[in-house]
Amino acid sequence: MKLVIGIVRPEKANDVLESLYRNNIRGLSLSRVQGHGGETERVETYRGTTVKVGLEDKVRFEIAVSEDFLDQTIDSIVEGGRTGEVGDGKIFVVPLERAVRIRTGEADQLAVTPIDGAQ
Ligand SMILES: Nc1ncnc2c1ncn2[C@@H]1O[C@H](COP(=O)(O)OP(=O)(O)OP(=O)(O)O)[C@@H](O)[C@H]1O
Ligand SMILES: [Mg+2]
Repeated sequence: MKLVIGIVRPEKANDVLESLYRNNIRGLSLSRVQGHGGETERVETYRGTTVKVGLEDKVRFEIAVSEDFLDQTIDSIVEGGRTGEVGDGKIFVVPLERAVRIRTGEADQLAVTPIDGAQ
């Protein structure tokens, strides 16, 4: 299992959601974060030039998937999140040790794979 973390532009969050839904990825968490993607701004100060490191609003998706769903999860985020401009975001894939569905106690593959009729 993997935890896919996708950091995207807030204005692309809905496109990512639609793209994930079309590709049958149903379980996810989303939060608003602030991040820095390397872009800096030169600022003139009294004794010279300094660099201002700005933070931008981003949306962070967290999606736990079995290996079978990994590629389509990544593809969905790229497809929904891309504008082609600097700052489109990043995807990180992290090994996931354990997942538990609280209602049933099901673990791991059974907990991250959608169940028909109970999505
Ligand atoms: N190395 C990193 N670790 C953690 N978060 C990151 C990292 N790089 C980028 N991010 C997150 O992704 C957001 C968007 O980053 P950004 O798209 O600018 O990445 P980039 O690698 O600079 O790509 P680009 O060249 O398209 O700007 C950042 O605001 C930050 O939240
Ligand atoms: Mg950047």
